[in-house]
Amino acid sequence: MQPEPDYRQLDAEYVMRVFSRDLMMVRGEGARLWDDRGNEYIDCVAGIAVCSTGHAHPRVAAAIGEQAQNLIHVSNHYYIPGQAELARRLVGITGMEGGRVFFSNSGTEATEAALKLARVRSGRTRFLAFTNGFHGRTCGALSTTFKPSIRTPFLPLPYECSFADYGDLESVDEMLDGSVAAVIVESVQGEGGVVPAPAGFLSGLRRLCDDAGSLLILDEVQTGFGRTGRWFGYQHDEITPDIVTMAKGIGSGFPMGAIVAREGLEFRPGEHGGTYVGGPLACAAGNATIDIIEEILPDIRRKGDLFAEALSAYNPRHAGLMLGITVGERCGDVQRRCQENGVLVNCTNGHIRIVPPLVITDEEIEKAAEVIDEALCSVVL
Ligand SMILES: Cc1ncc(COP(=O)(O)O)c(C=O)c1O
Repeated sequence: MQPEPDYRQLDAEYVMRVFSRDLMMVRGEGARLWDDRGNEYIDCVAGIAVCSTGHAHPRVAAAIGEQAQNLIHVSNHYYIPGQAELARRLVGITGMEGGRVFFSNSGTEATEAALKLARVRSGRTRFLAFTNGFHGRTCGALSTTFKPSIRTPFLPLPYECSFADYGDLESVDEMLDGSVAAVIVESVQGEGGVVPAPAGFLSGLRRLCDDAGSLLILDEVQTGFGRTGRWFGYQHDEITPDIVTMAKGIGSGFPMGAIVAREGLEFRPGEHGGTYVGGPLACAAGNATIDIIEEILPDIRRKGDLFAEALSAYNPRHAGLMLGITVGERCGDVQRRCQENGVLVNCTNGHIRIVPPLVITDEEIEKAAEVIDEALCSVVL
């Protein structure tokens, strides 16, 4: 038998050093992961809020497998199995009756589609986004992403964008005028450290956008598909956006994204496209994912509350199974300590982010919270 190649060595030699890596995961089941050295982890990262139905969910794996045996790819010049069905279901769960879907392969591509759509239909060129907001790294999306260290090296970016203070309607009011094609906002800032929009903020934005004739884009890439306890985060505020972007949890880990735009707002033939968008495998994964989330959705808020309660000493911000704890400089040490003790969490801009698979059990939540508590206690306090 051939010995396994040394993947770490190969990675060091051949892969661009964009990501810092340590572990190598070889197997997953539910909210558990195993690395190549046989260590087991409770996964509170979930591929960064992606593996919504848990790792290798048998129904998602079967749906992808069955589809792969029939047809892996076919051009969008043909009808695609599962695509229209998934589109119908996305319109249903967004509550945007009469709306239409454009599929993408990732979150940043969903942002690109939303910005292009707003740009082309409004005839306006400017955008308004928020401090600490994140909408992706391709150049259009990056125009609306706040973090200076990832933005500045690529200036000038294609879209002019101003950044208002997240949660502050007055600052939006000052910047929003008839030149703004759309306001783009997360219902909970994910990369920004899990910061939920204050009550009334999204409905206030809706009103200000209506007054200025600007579109409202809700970026639900990280918060969608049950993460906050509703299908989408904006549904807690009962507003209707003009465009919703989604990705991550939509395919349980199969790369996919989409936008849903309200009735009457759509691309005309030729205005946008993509070879792989809404492909058969992605749609099989998406349809299976929705089937599963429909079953688990009613319990997500309770699980999130359980997690938040167990960590209440650290004042976590939370929305469903999305929790953030501000740590500051020693965030990396907390993450490492958790990992040594069998729990994976993620550090974003000085905040511990906890976004486990939505199928995490109560026992796993309790165990993970104990480990996170111990790490925070020993590193921070
Ligand atoms: C809110 C939000 N929008 C967009 C993106 C970009 O998604 P992707 O990494 O799939 O391009 C992310 C990724 O973290 C995100 O959190």
